[in-house]
Amino acid sequence: MHSRILIQNGHIVDPSQGIDAAGDVLIEEGKIKEIRTEGQKSKRSKGQKTQDVAAAMPERSGAGPCTIDASGLYVLPGLVDMHTHLREPGFESKETIRSGTQAAVRGGFTSVCCMPNTVPVNDNETVTEFILRKNYAEGACYVFPIGAVTKGQRGEELAEMGMMLAAGCVAFSDDGRPVMNSLLMRRALEYAKVFNVPVISHCEDLTLSDGGVMNEGAVSALLGLGGIPAAAEEAMVARDVILAELTRGRLHIAHVSTEGSVRLIRRAKERGIAVTAETCPHYFSVTEDAVRDYDTNAKVNPPLRTGKDVEAVKEGLRDGTIDAIATDHAPHHKDEKLREFDKAPFGISGLETALSLSLGLVHDGVLTLSGLVEKMTVSPARIFGLAKGTLKPGAEADVTVVDAHREFRVEPEKFLSQGKNTPFGGWVLKGMPVMTICKGKVHE
Ligand code: DOR
Repeated sequence: MHSRILIQNGHIVDPSQGIDAAGDVLIEEGKIKEIRTEGQKSKRSKGQKTQDVAAAMPERSGAGPCTIDASGLYVLPGLVDMHTHLREPGFESKETIRSGTQAAVRGGFTSVCCMPNTVPVNDNETVTEFILRKNYAEGACYVFPIGAVTKGQRGEELAEMGMMLAAGCVAFSDDGRPVMNSLLMRRALEYAKVFNVPVISHCEDLTLSDGGVMNEGAVSALLGLGGIPAAAEEAMVARDVILAELTRGRLHIAHVSTEGSVRLIRRAKERGIAVTAETCPHYFSVTEDAVRDYDTNAKVNPPLRTGKDVEAVKEGLRDGTIDAIATDHAPHHKDEKLREFDKAPFGISGLETALSLSLGLVHDGVLTLSGLVEKMTVSPARIFGLAKGTLKPGAEADVTVVDAHREFRVEPEKFLSQGKNTPFGGWVLKGMPVMTICKGKVHE
């Protein structure tokens, strides 16, 4: 751990403080000590007596103080992923807390919120405590567990939400297994409201998706694969928005993928319903066409949709209907993805491509860089009530340094995640995290 780190001459983008300017960041004992932007520096040089950050830095030596030259680079608050599957306990052949958090840090994330679909399911405080203890011992970044809504994610009986919150959970979800019983979902929203935490909904009406494996439409018909209609997602978004209105509980919609969902959420927000939403890079970067050659790496739930849906998701991000970008990092073992399309599991390994794919929105003029950073830091932190996603003095020094112009080829075999399952292998992307600082360590 470096006692002091000075990041010099970068361009700082921190929407939590409205900063978008060249400057320096000083870190001391693992916390942000001071931020000095160009404007402040030049004001001081005209006579103010504040101590100069750079001049105060001792020489770079060993593990002691260090100076980082960030010229030409962006300096951001560490990214926060509100939707990650770390797989441990139970599925360590897919991912572990160690490998998943290493992948997170490589991808510029300093905090990840992990979904409860492990074995055993994170539906009680013992599992929550196990995850936190394991991460304390082995994790490269911060982990915030998400507890199950129902016991065993079976959709029959509410889990001990209060106990899990006390143990460290930050929200609730039966991710991957939608709560089909509307009364139970109502009770979950009511109960979570008492603690002012959101219920995250994986919106899928299982009766409508009916065992489908990709988006329902011309491509599924051509390939002879069972389709999941957009309506399977939208029917549940509509139901959950209605229940959020009824209960006045806090609803967070996971991985929005369709035009109709964006429309429903936009209307709900206009009407003042307490709903927030996230989407994932694959829903604005590729369409169902990625499945055409039966590529199981493009098999994900909800499925990749059409060009019109991609445009609507981008518009939802642009106009604020969609608050956050999450990865839905869903690593699987190579052998599982080698199965026939019908039988392979759903999921994309997303932590190590999320920022680069999302920077595409900035290059294409959909979002400003500050707007993008907001969706990957402040917004997820706000929705889950985390003291993260900021470079405010006193905050833990979670920092991501980004080269927005460096091009690179995606090489899944080099991922730190055990899950190499991505449809973006071989893509050339522009912009990448080049350094992540977390828990006092500098990862390059
Ligand atoms: O593609 C997905 N994979 N969607 C989900 O909702 C669950 C996830 C998983 O756990 O693999």
